[in-house]
Amino acid sequence: MTEAELYTVYKGIYLLKGFLQTLKYFEEFSFRPDDIIISTFPKSGTTWSQEIVPLIVNGGDPTCLQSPNWDRVPWLEDYPNFEERPSPRIIATHMQYNMMPPSFFKVKPRVINVMRNPKDVFTSTIHYHAKASYHVSPGPQNEFLHKFLDGKVAYGSWFDHVKSWLNAEDKEHMMHISYEEMIMDLKDSVSRIAQFLEIPLDDEVIEKIADRCLFKNMKTNSSNFSLVPLEIDDMSKSEFMRKGIAGDWKNQLTVAEAEYFDAVYKDQMNDVKYKFVWH
Ligand code: A3P
Repeated sequence: MTEAELYTVYKGIYLLKGFLQTLKYFEEFSFRPDDIIISTFPKSGTTWSQEIVPLIVNGGDPTCLQSPNWDRVPWLEDYPNFEERPSPRIIATHMQYNMMPPSFFKVKPRVINVMRNPKDVFTSTIHYHAKASYHVSPGPQNEFLHKFLDGKVAYGSWFDHVKSWLNAEDKEHMMHISYEEMIMDLKDSVSRIAQFLEIPLDDEVIEKIADRCLFKNMKTNSSNFSLVPLEIDDMSKSEFMRKGIAGDWKNQLTVAEAEYFDAVYKDQMNDVKYKFVWH
């Protein structure tokens, strides 16, 4: 199917048409001060965070993982029943900071913003689009690369997304972490997230959470996207839990594509002071 058939344009970005039913609810959403928001650009570690954060909030108790990730930590822009949920609600969003509903800027809930090397985001996205029937099929890689870099994919431009959250005005209730830091030292990342949420956890509990959230362990549990039926996500083309590594772009992009990517990155990110691990 084409972009026009699958997506709607909302404030200049593509969103799945199905969201038209929930966008009004999203815009009028009322936050609670103890809400915990996980903000990510798609393919940057959302599902991973939907496993880690509930475990932290529940003191490492794995019974919180009985429901699948999309029900355990629903998307703000795609879920109409948050009022019924007990606090603290854990909420995912792929929206840019400036698109958040007015209540967000008044209530200032805590935000964990997870970012990933955009070359790996692109690599993960192209495989994802090849199997997800609700996204346009990627077509030739070079064309899809241009679409991705121009923000002509769901949720718009990676650059706009990441810059919007990094430039957020109310920084004191936000934590930035990268997929790469989580890969390098998951235990330390879990500990930093727990500290940010002001949830004291024993070292042993932190270790257990980190172990449970290792790629190999999440790949075999049934509380994530591996549950999605074949006609929606054809896992025979590419599994949701695909590789789970940093640097897979080296197997995906040609030298010319990587150089073009770097040039666009340099141009788009030249005013960003944040020191990314992938630099
Ligand atoms: P790859 O396609 O590169 O393997 P999201 O959840 O934001 O859509 O991101 C999906 C990406 O996160 C996929 O990347 C997936 O494999 C990876 N991922 C999910 N859980 C992970 C984990 N526990 N450790 C490392 N990567 C993980």
